[in-house]
Amino acid sequence: MATAVVAQHSQSNFAGDVRAGLLRSGQKELPSKYLYDEVGSALFEVISVLPEYGLTRADERLLGRHAVDIVSRLKSDVLVAELGSGSGRKTRWILEALTRRQRTTYCPIEISPTALARCESELGQIEHVSIVGFERPYLDGLLAAASWRREHEHLLVLFLGSTIGNFDRDAGERFLAEVRRILYPGDALLLGTDLEKPLPQLVAAYDDPIGVTAAFNLNLLARINRELDADFDLAAFRHEARYNSSERRIEMHLRSLRGQTVAIARAGCSVTFAKDETIWTESSHKYRADEIPAMAQRTGYRCDGQWLDSEWPFAENLRAPFARGNHFHGPNRQDLRALIHAFESLLGFRYRLDRRNPQMDSAGGVNRHRDILPFVHDAQV
Ligand code: TRP
Repeated sequence: MATAVVAQHSQSNFAGDVRAGLLRSGQKELPSKYLYDEVGSALFEVISVLPEYGLTRADERLLGRHAVDIVSRLKSDVLVAELGSGSGRKTRWILEALTRRQRTTYCPIEISPTALARCESELGQIEHVSIVGFERPYLDGLLAAASWRREHEHLLVLFLGSTIGNFDRDAGERFLAEVRRILYPGDALLLGTDLEKPLPQLVAAYDDPIGVTAAFNLNLLARINRELDADFDLAAFRHEARYNSSERRIEMHLRSLRGQTVAIARAGCSVTFAKDETIWTESSHKYRADEIPAMAQRTGYRCDGQWLDSEWPFAENLRAPFARGNHFHGPNRQDLRALIHAFESLLGFRYRLDRRNPQMDSAGGVNRHRDILPFVHDAQV
């Protein structure tokens, strides 16, 4: 119930990223993380209830049905760290399943303060849950959350909603390997992955007929107008969702409907667009359920369970780290703390990371020594 936020104090580099992405030669790009300001986060909430976008409901359905089973495969005690805080609705299932056996600390890690605040109001009321939000990029936040845990605690890292699909495939694997380096044996990663599905269904999910997704994408230009004093004419750009079959991903673009020049005062630049030139804003890679165990192996994990939705092809994957050579032993605790403290003094954080919530000092009702079960396929389709 107690909440605390460990804030990110480094300067946001929105202007620099916009400048670099729009002035580069070749395909213009904007980083997708900037889609989620207050307006964007609210629009994404609407996307997640559109009939055409089944992803969020599939994720929630799977966690609603299987959270107890998933949690029963984890060692006690568990500290939960979530990469991206989402709306908190699906995380609630996991937290409620955990609080049946222990008090739980939940660390959402999120660069968007708006998303973090929403998550805290959504989940802050659950009995026996303490929230410690980290307003930081994923890996920095995860390192911080890992240093927050106590000696006997295992980390459950949640990476839901198929956010992994927003990384290029190689970068996604590198990212999961980085996450693995922060984990110890006995920790776990719960990874959501959206699966391949028929093309019309896939395209409609990213280009709905009432235009919410288009508004979500165009809001990025509106945000640049608001925050960087730019003069994008939104009517002169159109949302576009394309399926790239060799990369097996949906690509989101904003197409310039005419030749035009846009001034972005606070980024100190002007950008010229040819007619039909696009800005690439997001990719959403799709997976096959059976490629996920191999992907787990390549990045230092074993698959401990996979749950598939019967209505919308989507998989929830539980992964346990395994030791593979010297690279994959988790960092030792002292090194990790030293690293975090060095990092904190460098950036001048206001809060020290080892601040403890006194409420959390007794962990009652815990089932100890429950071993993680071997690899199980719990397919529903
Ligand atoms: N992570 C979401 C996804 O890949 C984001 C998303 C949904 C999105 N619809 C979008 C991003 C439209 C840009 C444009 O499914």
